[in-house]
Amino acid sequence: CGIVGYVGSQSALDVVVAGLKRLEYRGYDSAGVAVLSDGGLAAAKKAGKLVNLEKELVDRPLPSGSTGIGHTRWATHGGPTDANAHPHLDNAGRVAVVHNGIIENFAALRAELAGRGHRLASETDTEVVAHLLAEEFSACADLAEAMRLVCRRLEGAFTLVAVHADEPGVVVGARRNSPLVVGVGEDEAFLASDVAAFIAHTRSAIELGQDQVVELRRDSVTVTGFDGRPAEVRSYRVDWDASAAEKGGYDYFMLKEIAEQPKAVADTLLGRVDAAGSLTLDEVRISDSELREMDKVVIVACGTAFHAGLIAKYAIEHWTRIPCEVELASEFRYRDPILDQQTLVIAISQSGETMDTLMALRHAREQGAKVLAICNTNGSTIPREADAVLYTHAGPEVAVASTKAFLTQLVACYLVALYLGQVRGTKWGDEIRAVVRDLSHIAGSVEQVLGTMEPVRKLARSLADKDTVLFLGRHVGYPVALEGALKLKELAYMHAEGFAAGELKHGPIALIEEDVPVVVVVPSPRGRSVLHDKIVSNIQEIRARGARTVVIAEEGDEAVTPYADHLVRVPATPTLLQPLVATVPLQVFACELATARGNEVDQPRNLAKSVTVE
Ligand code: G6P
Repeated sequence: CGIVGYVGSQSALDVVVAGLKRLEYRGYDSAGVAVLSDGGLAAAKKAGKLVNLEKELVDRPLPSGSTGIGHTRWATHGGPTDANAHPHLDNAGRVAVVHNGIIENFAALRAELAGRGHRLASETDTEVVAHLLAEEFSACADLAEAMRLVCRRLEGAFTLVAVHADEPGVVVGARRNSPLVVGVGEDEAFLASDVAAFIAHTRSAIELGQDQVVELRRDSVTVTGFDGRPAEVRSYRVDWDASAAEKGGYDYFMLKEIAEQPKAVADTLLGRVDAAGSLTLDEVRISDSELREMDKVVIVACGTAFHAGLIAKYAIEHWTRIPCEVELASEFRYRDPILDQQTLVIAISQSGETMDTLMALRHAREQGAKVLAICNTNGSTIPREADAVLYTHAGPEVAVASTKAFLTQLVACYLVALYLGQVRGTKWGDEIRAVVRDLSHIAGSVEQVLGTMEPVRKLARSLADKDTVLFLGRHVGYPVALEGALKLKELAYMHAEGFAAGELKHGPIALIEEDVPVVVVVPSPRGRSVLHDKIVSNIQEIRARGARTVVIAEEGDEAVTPYADHLVRVPATPTLLQPLVATVPLQVFACELATARGNEVDQPRNLAKSVTVE
């Protein structure tokens, strides 16, 4: 969910609604605001996207005031209805609360409140907090203190922001797990789950730590622990360009982010590779000698980041000869995995906030493993809790479906794999140096692919009424196929599946019928030519059964031409790096299909960009 709080000299409602727009990617099932004015506390909330709330605010304007909070929701407890939308108020309508996360002991607290005569209006866990805060406030008349007392009673993961009619000019926030950042302006202050909500106003930020409460006034910011003791805070300047979070002339953020990929890839390599083919990863604070001791790598991630991990396995095992497992973070955590001090766990996450990945990281560290985070968001929770971090430099990614973050995750994974190979001195030394040089040209190859996408868009439009699209690949092309299918599910709401091409004959081939589109990712015919030959046979097998083949193959690969109903060319790229170019047409394909089917590209139904619940 997205949270915003404001106190200052501007209209709180305007600042909060503008901030929510920036955070809508975090959830868009419902939205709400509360404002404190001379007339007291007023709130509005609406199921559906933020525009519904904006319409409501036009029809029934709220009084203007200079203190306010807002929320955009991704439903957990209770469906996305007006009543379940945040903020939640107490019975007297004096306190308003917005919340991200889950309060695990809410049922017990709810029963306790009902026993004391409280009437709870929604099915949410958040509402109990409003009631508890109202009770505590009536005893101490200090909202920050009331928040600390309440937080000490809550179990689970939560971030809360509240205002009280009897303490105008104050916004109070509390953080456990999901992020909350303070923005400090001139005679104004902001609270948000992401700096994007306030970078239009200020670049000066303070990161709240775990189990901290912040009291915001227009001229002061006070941070304490849940126990009331003053807390140390880390201030920093936000270096993201405000315009990076604008669409900049594109219809969708996703299109803009796809187009930004060459730069994102180049930025992620910058300063880390040199022309002679060697690597420097100074930021990775795990020493070379520790890295030499590692006898196993385990990668944990979710969604698209998991696919980056699957590709990394091929590179890591090939270049370092260290066994590498890749696991969905949500599965890893509860499986009792075997880890020790010689295990390097790599947690990949664009947002740095995905709860499943965070829990996997914590579990790994508890077992004594070292965790290296690959992350795109500076200062987010996963890199803060990891032993080391390698940042991807994709810039802010706003569209829910991940594109440029994925490509940069791949680059970061290659860098880690190559670096491990370099410090461990494997027999692939020459190959490693050659690949490092190849990587420095890769942004140009991505650019080249982007320049040839019109036929892919046309093809996508022509397939808009299909029910199913299948994706096939071998080796690193297999995770690329999975990613192509995931993009299509997320964006076009179509049945899409990715398969290892060799596995097709063991079952999935039964799905092939007349005119079913099958996208096949073909590896380079140079190098591992056996791989190439095998997939050419697989294409023939499906074509013989009526499939409509969409073949993604490198320039000059003529062996595939007779079997391709549609041929998409990508620049010649060594197989291990090919996902960096082969994924791009699949992103464009999914985006165009979604548009053709009338779907919302940047905010697909039911999804959220960072999922901060398990
Ligand atoms: C959500 C998003 C996916 C994303 C996944 C992991 O489910 O909808 O697009 O891949 O989270 O996100 P992360 O921020 O950890 O990379």
